Amino acid sequence: MSEKVTVSVIKADVGSVVGHSRPHPAMMSKCGEMLADGVKQGTIEDYYVTRVGDDINLIMTHRKGENNKDVHGLAWNAFMEATKLAKKMKLYAAGQDLLTDAFSGNVKGAGPGSAEMEFVERGSEPLLFFMADKTEPAAYSLPLSKIFLDPFTTTGLVIDARAKKGFDVEIHDVIDSKRVVMSSPEETLSILSLLGDTTRYAIKRINSRAGIGPAAVVSTDKLNMTAGKYVGKDDPVCICRSQSGLPAVGEFLQPYMTPMIVAGWMRGSHHGALYPCSVDNSDPTYFDGPPRICCLGFQLNNGRLQGIEPMNSKTGVHEPIDFFKGQEWDDVRNESVKICKMIRQHGPFMPAILSPDEMEYTSRPEVLKELTKRFEKLE
Ligand code: 13P
Ligand code: 13P
Ligand code: MG
Ligand code: MG
Repeated sequence: MSEKVTVSVIKADVGSVVGHSRPHPAMMSKCGEMLADGVKQGTIEDYYVTRVGDDINLIMTHRKGENNKDVHGLAWNAFMEATKLAKKMKLYAAGQDLLTDAFSGNVKGAGPGSAEMEFVERGSEPLLFFMADKTEPAAYSLPLSKIFLDPFTTTGLVIDARAKKGFDVEIHDVIDSKRVVMSSPEETLSILSLLGDTTRYAIKRINSRAGIGPAAVVSTDKLNMTAGKYVGKDDPVCICRSQSGLPAVGEFLQPYMTPMIVAGWMRGSHHGALYPCSVDNSDPTYFDGPPRICCLGFQLNNGRLQGIEPMNSKTGVHEPIDFFKGQEWDDVRNESVKICKMIRQHGPFMPAILSPDEMEYTSRPEVLKELTKRFEKLE
């Protein structure tokens, strides 16, 4: 089959049990019912409903291309239904990421985050779905840079002839809504010169230069800018295609063995160290964090998500591989907590808190107003 397939992840936080912890299972089931109906109606080919912390992630495959209004509408309606349940249970921040009452055909600018890629399915198509909670899109910039630009992480960049041709990196300026495409390896150092500023630049997309198509795509919808005021961190997703001219599955996972410091936990206003874990272990249990990252894997099978079919499955929905579940990730989890404890010693001081422009909460304008008359010019 050469017809192109589209893989979409649309995600939103529409309420959770006990602060910003976890959507209620009834909300997830409701989304599952809605998407099963979407398969029956022919809107999508297949789906998997999952979550990281308090964010519901809808993984969908279809033949309708990116930004399709039926697919986005289906996700939007699922979130609306889940919101109704959240409101009924008086869950925390019910409907948090749904910023408009009237859906206009695309979730962009409406609150939910989306990452989508359209491509010709290869003979074998291993897919990885990274999902993060309590952080921002630029959290993926460091690991994706290591994966696609650093041969000491991805040996494939040296020994796989097609990966060695390099990659095109689309970088977004998330504050001024601009983008630029740069090429590795030639422009690697200039790429890093931008990406180092995680408050402004983030990787949106990476494409193979060997004709394989998209290799990675990140949801970069800056919720704070979308809403005009801060309503929660983006909690971004990243879809990756792997193997055969692209980084191998293991090369995609490798950077997460080191805890990276990212912005966004506790009131969206603190730095913390990324904590790789299973979906089941993704409830934020320490200072609303640490910022969690999960990674699920499926093979694509003629547009359907091939995982492990559970015994006695009524729905026919397959289960993915949960890559950060195993004990080999315990060391980095422990290290993440250690780093977080150290950063927490700084309390309300930088770098524990974010830079002034990035704070979700701040009392400073009021404090400064009260002090207007008491501030004296220095000699
Ligand atoms: P196999 O030889 O097991 O297919 O693995 C190849 C590979 O690229 C693993 O990273
Ligand atoms: P979420 O963005 O995951 O809803 O978290 C918000 C927050 O402020 C947690 O402390
Ligand atoms: Mg929340
Ligand atoms: Mg969240």
